[in-house]
Amino acid sequence: MGIKSVKLKSMTPYPFTTGPAFDFPQNHPYYFSNFGYWEKGYDYPTAAKKMAILTGDAAGLNKDSKLLEVGSGLGGSVFVWAKDFSVGEILAVNLEGEQSKFAKDLITNEQLNSVIWKEGDWKIISNLEDSSFTHIICLDCIYHFQDKPSFYKEVKRLLKPNGKFVFTDLSFPKSIGRFSLYYKFLEFLTSVALVPKENQNTTDQTLHTLNDIGFRIIRTEEWGEFVYPGFAEFAKSQTGTLQIFANTILHFYHSGFLNYQFYVVEKSEYSL
Ligand SMILES: C[S@@+](CC[C@H](N)C(=O)[O-])C[C@H]1O[C@@H](n2cnc3c(N)ncnc32)[C@H](O)[C@@H]1O
Repeated sequence: MGIKSVKLKSMTPYPFTTGPAFDFPQNHPYYFSNFGYWEKGYDYPTAAKKMAILTGDAAGLNKDSKLLEVGSGLGGSVFVWAKDFSVGEILAVNLEGEQSKFAKDLITNEQLNSVIWKEGDWKIISNLEDSSFTHIICLDCIYHFQDKPSFYKEVKRLLKPNGKFVFTDLSFPKSIGRFSLYYKFLEFLTSVALVPKENQNTTDQTLHTLNDIGFRIIRTEEWGEFVYPGFAEFAKSQTGTLQIFANTILHFYHSGFLNYQFYVVEKSEYSL
């Protein structure tokens, strides 16, 4: 998710702070900082959790799953995996900082013993053993990661044969001329929201990368219409800065420069 107020001093983007835990309506213990998947009549807690439920359903999570989630934020999703899908072994990796602290306290207080929380950049997963997980999930966060192709390779190494990788990502359907005002706006938005330039990919580019690495593409869906209008509507109840941010990305979506993509891919049985 984007920013609410740009903290110029620390430059911590809003979705990396505990701001959403207190400013957004949340249903304890399901604390989220994602954009949400919005259907008619949804409030923020329902939309944010729905994004996780759709992801868990597509992954086929169950009590036998061994799940790695990278970018678990405030920790709401690990409660979805544990409580709504009965997953018994969950490793959550998230950047060090106030969100991880909030989530770790929550997990301890709620005695969610099925979750191990590791703080750090995604690159810490390189210490994990090959073929350790049946499922790997990234919910509304991968667009922040440096060097996504290397991340995808690590995901493939860590998945068991037939293991599934399910994630949501921003997509940038068409390039914008360097001299367009949109170009400058997008540069500003992506820099404050910590989206590296090399992550401004089309869906086809992402699919090619995944394919080249050896994933089998099972499913991909455009979610823009379920994400940006609902989030912009919700933002009306939030600060002016968040409203401007949400309306700007909605405008980019309507102009065809931005979308939101859902991916379900699999490591084939014979893949190394
Ligand atoms: C928009 S929030 C989404 C959080 C959560 N998945 C949710 O659905 O509410 C993005 C999260 O990704 C995490 N993140 C960003 N870059 C990361 C990285 N390089 N490695 C691990 N986590 C990262 C941030 O700490 C933040 O909590």
